[in-house]
Amino acid sequence: MLLVTGASGHLGSLVHAGLTRRGLAPLAGSRTPDRFGAAGRSLDFDDPATADLTGVRTLVLVSAGYGEDDVVIARHDAVITAAERAGVEHVVYTSLTAAGDHLPFALAHRWTERRLRASSLHWTVLRNGLYAELIGQLAAPADGVIATPLGDGAVAAVAREDLADAAVAVAADPESHRGSTLELVGPTAITAADLAAELAVPYLPVSLARWRAGLDGAGLLPFQPPMLLGICSAVAGGFLAGTGGDLARLLTRPARDPLRVAVAAAR
Ligand SMILES: NC(=O)c1ccc[n+]([C@@H]2O[C@H](COP(=O)([O-])OP(=O)(O)OC[C@H]3O[C@@H](n4cnc5c(N)ncnc54)[C@H](OP(=O)(O)O)[C@@H]3O)[C@@H](O)[C@H]2O)c1
Repeated sequence: MLLVTGASGHLGSLVHAGLTRRGLAPLAGSRTPDRFGAAGRSLDFDDPATADLTGVRTLVLVSAGYGEDDVVIARHDAVITAAERAGVEHVVYTSLTAAGDHLPFALAHRWTERRLRASSLHWTVLRNGLYAELIGQLAAPADGVIATPLGDGAVAAVAREDLADAAVAVAADPESHRGSTLELVGPTAITAADLAAELAVPYLPVSLARWRAGLDGAGLLPFQPPMLLGICSAVAGGFLAGTGGDLARLLTRPARDPLRVAVAAAR
């Protein structure tokens, strides 16, 4: 039996739907399981008592990364411990591209990868690049101008749909991917200037300090500004521009154009 965590989330729902289309009848692990009918399983990593993975053979663990490091680490530890207890055979974990090591939230991903390697489980690590949708949101025009601190840095952003299809390919055939750490970044690297050209608006790069000041009063949680600034800083520094990796060989179709996906998200 297969189970996908975070099944109501953007990525988890795509993975769950993809496995369902393949006729693999995945279970949907979620804090809101009712929406999945008989396939729903209550799963809240913050409440390890709900983490009953009995009968699950392959677990797609979608990172639950919205939180401080200690919270995220405790969540992932709880679900991996529950997988060990229940005799799950294989965990497919959605991590972060190696190029993302400069990002503030990289540590919790690397901690989780290390926890998996030290576990009794078979595993596959999917090192996901930054979502093209996220880059579109970060570079969305306000008052007819794109004003972000992305500099002239390019990012090998990747459509969530591509990451979901890659996860489906791995989860449907986990034995072929045992012990693999796969790099899943986009086929081309995009810049804020590319987005501006597509949207026919000016791009005025701003400083990190000015952008941070603009986040005040935006209703963000305390951990979010450093996360967002870290993304901008790493993109501007050119750390996330590298393309290539394993995405193309996992997909049975060409990867989505990240610029088009980002533009759609920025509108
Ligand atoms: N690569 C990138 O650019 C990027 C960007 C943002 C985030 N991420 C990471 O990728 C993950 C998936 O992205 P996404 O776009 O699908 O995010 P999303 O739409 O916010 O979905 C995240 C899902 O994680 C689950 N979750 C959160 N807290 C949980 C908890 N305590 N216990 C169990 N499940 C919990 C929830 O599923 P249910 O609602 O079904 O319980 C939630 O819907 C994020 O959680 C984050 O770690 C990656």
